[in-house]
Amino acid sequence: MPEPTSPASAVGHAVYPSLRGRRVFITGGGSGIGAAMVSAFAEQGAQVAFVDVAEAASRALAEQVAAAGHPAPWWQVCNVRDVAALQRAIDEAATALGDFSVLVNNVASDDRHTVESVTPEYWDERMAINQRPAFFAIQAVVPGMRRLGSGSIVNLGSTGWQRNSSGYPCYAVAKSSVNGLTHGLAGSLGAHRIRVNTVSPGWVMTERQVKLWLTPESEQAVRRDQCLPDLLQPVHVARMVLFLASDDAAMCTAQEFKVDAGWA
Ligand SMILES: NC(=O)c1ccc[n+]([C@@H]2O[C@H](COP(=O)([O-])OP(=O)(O)OC[C@H]3O[C@@H](n4cnc5c(N)ncnc54)[C@H](O)[C@@H]3O)[C@@H](O)[C@H]2O)c1
Repeated sequence: MPEPTSPASAVGHAVYPSLRGRRVFITGGGSGIGAAMVSAFAEQGAQVAFVDVAEAASRALAEQVAAAGHPAPWWQVCNVRDVAALQRAIDEAATALGDFSVLVNNVASDDRHTVESVTPEYWDERMAINQRPAFFAIQAVVPGMRRLGSGSIVNLGSTGWQRNSSGYPCYAVAKSSVNGLTHGLAGSLGAHRIRVNTVSPGWVMTERQVKLWLTPESEQAVRRDQCLPDLLQPVHVARMVLFLASDDAAMCTAQEFKVDAGWA
């Protein structure tokens, strides 16, 4: 569905010279907002690496980025529930490309569930996707960032749990902890000039969201409840992440930046 062209898009978007050649690791980069970030960083001349469980989508994305003339992304099929596999993938990517100066903790799954249906095993499984990987990815990239003398970590939060929402209590718990992760690490990592921020999207029209949950009624509601009437697209979130990864955000850390069209 076409969005109105804003004056900004008519004149083009920011180019960050500091991102050229910068090595960026993204979890869950194969589709959705993660894929928009893979493309956006590559368009800036950054060297991107990503992991995802979706092999076909990841391969298609990597081919599309390379065909557009941007640095070909390094990618690997990896289930982030397996912490050892995630840390191994980060190490292998760093061996191939060099130390990462940017980490984007993007992977998540907002599968719906009821309060009554949640078992301890399901709870753990939700946290194993939506909460645990971010900390252990940070643990894996920090030594390289310290060698580089600086870094930027962006943790994807959500505004979903910050307003009246239902249908995904485990996801809400995990997402509400992202600000704690950001604040809990920004102090100790700041001593090494590693910045840590949260980017919290509103309702973003990824393929999955459109397929599973967008209806004429929900579309009408979001256009009414946001301050801005247009639907959020993955690239809107990617542009905020580019800024935070760049040296233009040199003194931004321990913050939550919302990209929600004024809904929360
Ligand atoms: N789309 C939204 O409206 C919205 C709103 C608020 C917050 N967010 C946040 O933005 C981030 C991206 O969301 P999205 O909507 O693009 O999600 P998505 O579900 O569209 O994409 C997530 C990606 O992660 C991959 N993935 C899922 N489980 C995995 C696993 N176990 N191991 C490896 N990869 C796995 C998927 O294959 C997919 O490519 C998430 O952190 C999400 O919580 C999204």
